[in-house]
Amino acid sequence: MSDIQSVMHENRVFTPSADFVKQANVSGMEAYQALCAEASKDYTGFWGRLARETLQWKKPFTKTLDDSNAPFYKWFEDGELNVSYNCLDAHLAASADKTAIIFEADDGVVTKINYRDLHARVCQFANGLKSRGIKKGDRVVIYMPMSIEAVVAMQGCARIGAIHSVVFGGFSSKSLHERITDAKASAVITADAQMRGGRTMPLKPAVDEALTLGGCESVHTVIVYQRAACDTAWDASNNIWWHDLVAGQESVCEPEWVGAEHPLFILYTSGSTGSPKGVQHSSAGYLLGAMISMQWVFDYKASDIFWCTADVGWITGHSYVAYGPLAMGGTQVIFEGVPTYPDAGRFWKMIQDHKVTTFYTAPTAIRSLIKLGGELPKQYDLSSLRLLGSVGEPINPEAWMWYYNTVGGARCPIVDTWWQTETGCHMIAPLPGAMPIKPGTCTLPLPGIMATIVNEAGDEVFDQHGGFLVIKKPFPSQIRTIWGDPERYKKGYFPEEMHGAYLAGDSAHRDEDGYFWIMGRIDDVLNVSGHRLGTMEIESALASNPLVAEAAIVGRPHEIKGEAVVAFVVLKGARPETPEKAREIAEILRNWVAKEIGPIAKPDEIRFGENLPKTRSGKIMRRLLRAIAKGEEITQDVSTLENPAILDQLKNAVR
Ligand code: WT7
Repeated sequence: MSDIQSVMHENRVFTPSADFVKQANVSGMEAYQALCAEASKDYTGFWGRLARETLQWKKPFTKTLDDSNAPFYKWFEDGELNVSYNCLDAHLAASADKTAIIFEADDGVVTKINYRDLHARVCQFANGLKSRGIKKGDRVVIYMPMSIEAVVAMQGCARIGAIHSVVFGGFSSKSLHERITDAKASAVITADAQMRGGRTMPLKPAVDEALTLGGCESVHTVIVYQRAACDTAWDASNNIWWHDLVAGQESVCEPEWVGAEHPLFILYTSGSTGSPKGVQHSSAGYLLGAMISMQWVFDYKASDIFWCTADVGWITGHSYVAYGPLAMGGTQVIFEGVPTYPDAGRFWKMIQDHKVTTFYTAPTAIRSLIKLGGELPKQYDLSSLRLLGSVGEPINPEAWMWYYNTVGGARCPIVDTWWQTETGCHMIAPLPGAMPIKPGTCTLPLPGIMATIVNEAGDEVFDQHGGFLVIKKPFPSQIRTIWGDPERYKKGYFPEEMHGAYLAGDSAHRDEDGYFWIMGRIDDVLNVSGHRLGTMEIESALASNPLVAEAAIVGRPHEIKGEAVVAFVVLKGARPETPEKAREIAEILRNWVAKEIGPIAKPDEIRFGENLPKTRSGKIMRRLLRAIAKGEEITQDVSTLENPAILDQLKNAVR
């Protein structure tokens, strides 16, 4: 892969300016090393100190880490707190009037809300939830557009100790149904519609449909935020408008004090096998991770205008929209729309209008904005920016350099942050006032994060060839379990060969400075536009179509999306005879996948064959499919292949 090649030979180094270093929360490499040394010397003492200094506790904890039932770790267990208290009440005395959220709608209308009002609205909503009998420990699915209300919904759940599970608005009713039933949710919070790129896209119909699919008896309430005032089907037996729910509710609500380990949320993500897994996060450890990374990696200052473009449907939108910025008492921008509407200058205009200081987005967005208007940032005043961030996939040096020069004016450090749904917060990322940065590497682990690279036997390797990325010691913000499936948690993340280390699922190598370079997933998980997709999930979606006998999914490098989804399909009937017929069936199947999972999982390319390349024992040879998808000559050993002729057929198949 040419990208990986150019990344591996990258040797440009950018040292933080003296001015940046001077004002940084962690100022200079020695300060970073001192924190690392503190963590090495007394690991639990280090995290205990941070948890005491960073979080506000109702009842202080006495024991930092309980590892007696590893890998089911418990942090700060006998402490009590409330996450919403830490995000809202904690700021009322000193900064009630400070703007918490600058919301810009799709059509450009801006709404600002300060901490006093946000607190009142969260309390009212929390009281509304209680009025419907929703209580501590109940699961609440949130299926909402980007809005102040989405944050209010999440914070409202946290306030009463209900466990939210946000489902990205781009997922289909089927995916929503799967998550509602797995979590046995008591309530669903949604909106009539979402506005994107000038269009009204109904959301509630997907909820209605999910609830008809069976097994959703646990859901007794559907709360509907009116965003678009479009026609909305109504089931008066359990539907209630958001505005009716909160009408007359008190604007104070005593937080439910919960134990540090009380689950704050479940967030579903794709694995290599089976259905999506419900990643369960804690209250205290999770919030500590979100806050400490705000301070270290985003070098958070009270004067910042912070903007993370991620949707709250992903972990990035949890840690760096719904929780981290609020816990710090910061001012953040939340955006409803898309980066290309009304034109590809939208992000840059918003940075200018709101005087954004810290901007955090994904490489896929950067690459598509380069393509749509590489010169556009120059038409805007981006001088407010002081720090840029990247997340979700490796950033190629070309995109990095453009981001650095054209957006950041060669002035702003870029923090390339490696982490996962499971880790809750940044794990490997620059502390921008400490380490020099290089395009394409996420640099070094955060203090207290014992990340390393090992071989199959679990032994550490330090060379250019790399191996599996693992984290040797438990850390506060990590996944606690997979909801309802502790065995899957144990087997998937702590396989025996790793001697108790957390196996991240990525491969990586280190360069001569010890910097980490992420090379890609080691499992059958694709990263399409920064979204994680399981190949198995897409394969089962295709196989459930009556036309399909068998399907195999592989990824192929894609200029904008990072990876594209390529499907190899065997139909039950004959292979399509004409290119027109092939394209027609491919379109039917693409729409089918969109309905089964969501538009993000649509195959970019479908090739039909009479069969798939298989070993004599019937195993699909995916490495051959990968080569065909990339258009590479097959130089690999095909001696174990049962049906060699199939390769040419698939190679020459219409796409
Ligand atoms: C996977 C996790 C972390 C929030 C968004 C994605 C890939 C993530 C980077 C990065 C290279 C990255 C990894 C990881 N990834 N950040 N900076 N450089 N790869 O969360 O959906 O849980 O996906 O995204 O492969 O395992 P996620």
